[in-house]
Amino acid sequence: MRVCLLRGDGIGAELCDDARAALQLVLPDAHVDEVPIGFHAFEATGSALPPASLAAARDADACLLVAVGSPLVPTPGYHSPIVALRRELDLYANLRPVRSLVAGASPIDLAGASPVDLIVVRENTEGLYAGRESTSPGRAVAERVVTESASRRIARVAGELASGRRGRVTVVHKANVLRETCGLFRSTALDELARFSGLVVDELLVDNAALQLVTNPERFDVLVTTNLFGDILSDVAAHAGGGLGLVTSANFGTHGALFEPVHGSAPDLVGTGRANPIATLRAVAWMVDFLGATAEAERLTRAIETTLAAGPRTPDLGGHATTAEVTEAVLASALSHELCSLNPL
Ligand code: NAI
Ligand code: MG
Repeated sequence: MRVCLLRGDGIGAELCDDARAALQLVLPDAHVDEVPIGFHAFEATGSALPPASLAAARDADACLLVAVGSPLVPTPGYHSPIVALRRELDLYANLRPVRSLVAGASPIDLAGASPVDLIVVRENTEGLYAGRESTSPGRAVAERVVTESASRRIARVAGELASGRRGRVTVVHKANVLRETCGLFRSTALDELARFSGLVVDELLVDNAALQLVTNPERFDVLVTTNLFGDILSDVAAHAGGGLGLVTSANFGTHGALFEPVHGSAPDLVGTGRANPIATLRAVAWMVDFLGATAEAERLTRAIETTLAAGPRTPDLGGHATTAEVTEAVLASALSHELCSLNPL
């Protein structure tokens, strides 16, 4: 089994070590290829996604990326390596589940509302996030391409997921203004979802969806939306699930799978030991499950849940622990689960 660990920037580089340690504990025989990606890779090689890194990602059975950092100003030669990777591997579906995991960690829990259990299904290959832009003096243009084929295949993913869950899909768009692009996404998604029997399908304008995710997140089961809206809404949804330190995601497509936390490289946390490793460790657990090692994934997931319940916790969850202390607690718990299962007496 081959795993590609893409070492990114900021906490995306730091947490790579936590990911590797967890992976080695539960899948000691996996072949791990660690390769650079992101701004450091760009500075060192002139490419944010060096050809050798792309080749390693292609060869792997699954990839894990914590996060990269991108410059905020136009930088000649720099292109988003994440957009490139998703395009190159045709990772067209980005699944971002959010659940209330930690009692008291989310304002929603504190309000005593019912638990949140939703998935944002984000189209991953086109739309504004594809970054097709051009400039002329005093003017900048972004091209937003939406196709029927991409809209249909992402709606199918949402329908299949919802069929195995609570059977509800919300199509999120802004078709009242973006009549052509969102209009095509909306009509195609609704048409595709109508082919599933037993689903309850509704729709929301994206601004209202953001509000509902904050005020009423338990109303959602599966949300399906375009690329940039999905990016923004998944950070909003993360709030209902205890914050960005917990929420993880998977990108699936025709040429593989890439697992990653939803958060970025968090420059404000670099070197502080305050980054929450749980989102990364949950990405590892999801990847291990995808690789077919169900029991090992379950062991890691149980260790994460035990640690979330009993502590230690990083400051984003109200605790005082460091990244290393949380990871060590999860690994120790995973190890004790293993010893218990080897020796049930
Ligand atoms: P961010 O997600 O890195 O951070 C947003 C906020 O969440 C910050 O207050 C940060 O301290 C907090 N946070 C993030 N991860 C956390 C963790 N594990 N534990 C506790 N708190 C955490 O977003 P930001 O600051 O807007 O972007 C920073 C850089 O990350 C940018 O260069 C951006 O391009 C990049 N980015 C990369 C992504 C990726 O690689 N998939 C996704 C999002 C942003
Ligand atoms: Mg994002």
